[in-house]
This record gives sequence, structure tokens and C-alpha cells, in this order.
Amino acid sequence: MFFHPLQHILSMAIALLLLIIFSCQTIVFAENEPLFACNTEKDPSLKNYSFCNPSLDVKTRVNDLVKRLTLEEKIGNLVNNASSIDRLGIPGYKWWSEALHGVSNVGPATHFSSLVPGATSFPQVILTAASFNKTLFKAIGKVVSTEARAMYNVGLAGLTYWSPNVNIFRDPRWGRGQETPGEDPVLASKYVANYVRGLQERDDGDKDRLKVAAACKHYTAYDVDNWEGIDRYHFDAKVTKQDMEDTYQPPFKSCVLDGNVASVMCSYNEVNGKPTCGDPDLLKRVIRGEWKLNGYISSDCDSLDTMFNSQHWAKTPEQVAADALNAGLDLNCGNWLRDYTMGAVQGGLVEESVVDKAVSNNFATLMRLGFFDGDPSKQMYGNLGPKDVCTPAHQELARDAARQGIVLLKNVFRPLPLSPTAIKSLALIGPNANATTTMIGNYAGLYIYTYTYIYASECVL
Ligand SMILES: *[C@@H]1O[C@H](CO)[C@@H](O)[C@H](O)[C@H]1NC(C)=O
Ligand SMILES: *[C@@H]1O[C@H](CO)[C@@H](O)[C@H](O)[C@H]1NC(C)=O
Ligand SMILES: *[C@@H]1O[C@H](CO)[C@@H](O)[C@H](O)[C@H]1NC(C)=O
Ligand SMILES: *[C@@H]1O[C@H](CO)[C@@H](O)[C@H](O)[C@H]1NC(C)=O
Repeated sequence: MFFHPLQHILSMAIALLLLIIFSCQTIVFAENEPLFACNTEKDPSLKNYSFCNPSLDVKTRVNDLVKRLTLEEKIGNLVNNASSIDRLGIPGYKWWSEALHGVSNVGPATHFSSLVPGATSFPQVILTAASFNKTLFKAIGKVVSTEARAMYNVGLAGLTYWSPNVNIFRDPRWGRGQETPGEDPVLASKYVANYVRGLQERDDGDKDRLKVAAACKHYTAYDVDNWEGIDRYHFDAKVTKQDMEDTYQPPFKSCVLDGNVASVMCSYNEVNGKPTCGDPDLLKRVIRGEWKLNGYISSDCDSLDTMFNSQHWAKTPEQVAADALNAGLDLNCGNWLRDYTMGAVQGGLVEESVVDKAVSNNFATLMRLGFFDGDPSKQMYGNLGPKDVCTPAHQELARDAARQGIVLLKNVFRPLPLSPTAIKSLALIGPNANATTTMIGNYAGLYIYTYTYIYASECVL
């Protein structure tokens, strides 16, 4: 059925009313605090440490911090659930947040609550990409990072987002194609560079600092799963050099070179017989050497477990830890590096200097995010809060993205466009008329309203 404009206005009014109610709750729950290091107001002695001094450059601060740490403390910061270092005023940090098409609660660092009950959900990436509009890609990234920062400020979200998914959607049987910008390496490259810049870039143009940190995943040639009995943990992608350069690598290359991304995540699969997270050629030589990543390389969640238990890559768990670190991995989603790095160092399989490099890349990212600059409310973006999430302007951008990306596949006998005067009533039949669960996609957040053909707005709370 068609919507009478008045109904639309009415539902918008309800939306606004609810948003006003949510922003009122801010006052009630204002005690929610973000996590940060170098709380010099609480502990003035922290001012003595160079790593707490925001006027120094990141490298100097990181070196100062790392030289103060024991090997055990360093190892505790090679995993996504990073350990606190209480004696230096550093809280534990959870690295895993997601923001594929809006702030998502898939990663353990991000939650919704009565304070922020939902975030703006943008269309799935495959649709947004179909707009071929770089300005739009960046505008969406910017809104998502604003909502992410707003949620961080009230203790509900992290600063490091493991999005976007930039794998080339080459095989339509892969079940995750809707997460990606599609099959074309050129469009995918443009999409990721702009989405990442929208997420990361600060309004003051300071390239050394980050609004939030993005991550391009899953590096690389990952787009097959559960095909003829082979799952992603056992998949060995056989890729020629040319196909690698022409097809699979361009979005990652653009992500690092044009998007200046803060992270790349290696995948589960093997490429030409080697697990990606243990391949120095793919990580150290290409990402760090050729593309000069300014940031950290993370593993997918339990990639190292996969290397050992599914791919039987090495004889001991310590050897897997050493191979990953020596290949250029900095952060492990999972516990493998927490459990086996000490043994690997003691057994002479990896030098402590390699651990230093890895943990330095992790800390440098957090420093660029302001995590070591003390009270976030006194920094740029410190004034963002629940009032800046799901604003009418953000919701309008989501609707606009849907309009820009929708593709008409067929118009046989030319029924479209429909005539608003000739047609008095219209039935929408079939599962896609109101497929809200399908449309919200995966790696989504909670949402407050959905707009379908049937409902202009709908409260799901
Ligand atoms: C750190 O600074 C405090 C003053 O804030 C001072 O009293 C203390 O001696 C300093 N400690 C060190 C180890 O420099
Ligand atoms: C995170 O690590 C801490 C130790 O630093 C541990 O106490 C806690 O159980 C871990 N949490 C999860 C979810 O693994
Ligand atoms: C691209 O998207 C932006 C932001 O939504 C919009 O203002 C602009 O009109 C779009 N460009 C085109 C050509 O549609
Ligand atoms: C449309 O979807 C919503 C959410 O899934 C559901 O609550 C509602 O009943 C559906 N409406 C119709 C007409 O099927």
C-alpha cells in the first residue's frame, strides 16, 4: 500500500518524540564513563610519564611506554582483550568493535543500553556501493564515526572498528557478499578508501590522529566458505600472481594507500599453501613494506588456533605464535599470543624486539585515538553524546543512501513508474514486502526504527 504523506509526517513526529525522550535519559545516566589511560586528574604523578604527554610525537611516547613494560605486560597487549597495566594507569582495552553499516554490537566492546538504545543503520554495503557515489561512502563513514565516538564517550563503545569487509565478491555462492562492495575491484577500492576516510579522518585535518580506527578485512582471497565440504578454516585459495594483483589485492591496497587505514586483518584461509596470518610475504613485505601501513595488523578471531588445529601449520603452539609475530602480526583476536608468546620467546623462536614492534604498533594506534591523552571529554569530539546518535539528519542520510543505491533490475511491460493518480490501491505481496530482519543484514546494530514498504516507521523497543 501507499503511504499518505500525513502518516509519514506523523511517524516522523513519533520518531522525534522518542529521540527527545532518549536524550532526556542522558541526564539520568550521565555517570557512564569512557575508558582511557593517563587520568592525570585522578593521579597527578602520571604527568611525569612522557607517554602521557600529548604534546610529544606518537613515536616518542610509544618508545617511552614500551621501555617501561615487562615482557609479560607487553604480551598482555598483543590480544584483543588487552590486559590493564595498573601501575602505569592503563586500563584494559577491548579492541573488537564493528561498524560495517552503522555502529554494531557484534564485537564485545560495544553495547546498547537505555542510554543509547540503537544506532543509525545504513543499508547493506552491497546496496550503498551500487550508488557509485564516493561522496556518499565518505558521508556514511563520517556519521558512523560520530555515533561511535558519542557511544565511546558514555562507555558504550570502543575506538577500534574491524570494518569494512573488502573481500571481492567473486563467487555468488559465498554467503557474505552483501557485506562487501561487490565484485568489481575498482568500485571496491573507491568504496573502501572513502568509507575508511569518513570513519577515521578528524575535522581538524590532523592526519596523525584518528577519529576512530578502521580495519580492512579479511586479507586475502577469502571469499569462499563451506563449498564442497571445505570451510574457511581449511580453504587453501590457489591464486595466480596476476589474479592476486588484479582482483584480490586492489581493495586492500587502496584501503592502506588511499584510505590511510589504521589496520588490516588477516583471514583464516591459506593462500597458495600458507596461512595468511603467518605469511611474511603477505604481511611484512606487502602491507608494511610496500604499502607502508601506519597502524596494526590483526588476526581474525582465533586465526592462530586455526593455523595450529585446522591447518596443522606447525608442530607446537609456540611455533605458531612465533611464526605469526615474525610474519608481521601485531594483535591476535583470541588468546593464542597471550598463552604462547612467553614460551616462544623463552624457546628462542621469536626475539623480544619483535614483540616490542608489535605492541608498539598497537599502542601507537591507541595514542593516535587520544586514549593516552587523559579525559576524553576535554578532547576533540568530547562533547558528543547520546544526543548525537540516530539524529534525524543521520536517519535521513540512511534513507538517502537507500534511494541512491536501489537498482531496478527489470521493468518488463514498463509498469514503472506507477502513476499516483491512476492507482488507487496497491498490494505488496511476498516475503520481501516487509523483510526487516533480512534487510538489516549481519554485523548490524540495534535499531530504533525500520522503514519498509509497509511501515514508514516502526518502534521495535
Ligand atoms: C611525579 O610527580 C610528582 C608531582 O606530581 C612528584 O611529587 C613525584 O616525585 C614525581 N615522581 C617521579 C618518579 O618523578
Ligand atoms: C580478559 O582478560 C582478563 C585478564 O586481563 C580476564 O580476567 C578476563 O576474563 C578476559 N575476558 C574475556 C572475555 O576473555
Ligand atoms: C552523492 O551523495 C551525496 C551525499 O548523500 C549527495 O549529496 C549527492 O547528491 C550524491 N551525488 C549524486 C551524483 O547523486
Ligand atoms: C513487518 O515486520 C515487523 C518486524 O519484523 C513485524 O513486527 C510486523 O508484524 C510485520 N508486518 C507485517 C504486515 O507483516
